[in-house]
Amino acid sequence: MTERLLQLLAGVELFSELDSDDLAKVVTVAQLRPVAKDVTIFHAGDPADAVFVVASGKVKIVVTSSDGKEFILTVLGAGQVFGEMALLESAPRSATVTTATAVELLVINRQDFHHLLSTAPSISRNLLAILSRRLRRANSKMESLAYMDVAGRLARYLLDLARDHGQQLGNGWVVVRRPTHSDIAHSIGTSRETVSRLINEFEDSLGLVNKGKYTYIRESLLG
Ligand code: CMP
Repeated sequence: MTERLLQLLAGVELFSELDSDDLAKVVTVAQLRPVAKDVTIFHAGDPADAVFVVASGKVKIVVTSSDGKEFILTVLGAGQVFGEMALLESAPRSATVTTATAVELLVINRQDFHHLLSTAPSISRNLLAILSRRLRRANSKMESLAYMDVAGRLARYLLDLARDHGQQLGNGWVVVRRPTHSDIAHSIGTSRETVSRLINEFEDSLGLVNKGKYTYIRESLLG
């Protein structure tokens, strides 16, 4: 198990600068927890007692409006951290986290996380870089919600998805597995029907190719 944990930790940005002694410390405090698809890890407003790293699979970060509408802030995958905000601020959870696939999570409790932060400065540096990148991404999302029509928002969503999760095929194309059209709709503030219609229209206007759950995008579009 220790070997497996070390292997998983090697792909985690938060711990990327740790030497083997510090990584061994993380191994002693991290617990590996498998969780099935469509399970809520915690709800917005819950008290917080741990931070999580996605070891495999994907989770959705969701906020819900007072009339029950869901908005997906982002989807996080292997190597990414969540649940750090409430611990850093000593505040309740800022959003609900639900598994989008079966996942394995590394769970580190509050006390151990704070101890790691105080003993290994590189973890704090990496965390600041991660939070800064998330703020940049949130700004970009705010801009697109304020100024773009739904087609523009969807195009930006697909391009970001391909940059973050796409696989280069080496022939000028990138392939990416799309979330459900319903989840995409909840990420860009529109309906599932509109997403389905526009994704088909993008085959002509942007030259995308959709095959089942996969979309192929020309690398040149990703900038
Ligand atoms: P926390 O507030 O503890 O619980 C919800 C978590 O969702 C939060 O910590 C962050 O880890 C994550 N989160 C909240 N907002 C965003 C966002 N805009 N982008 C990425 N992750 C987020």
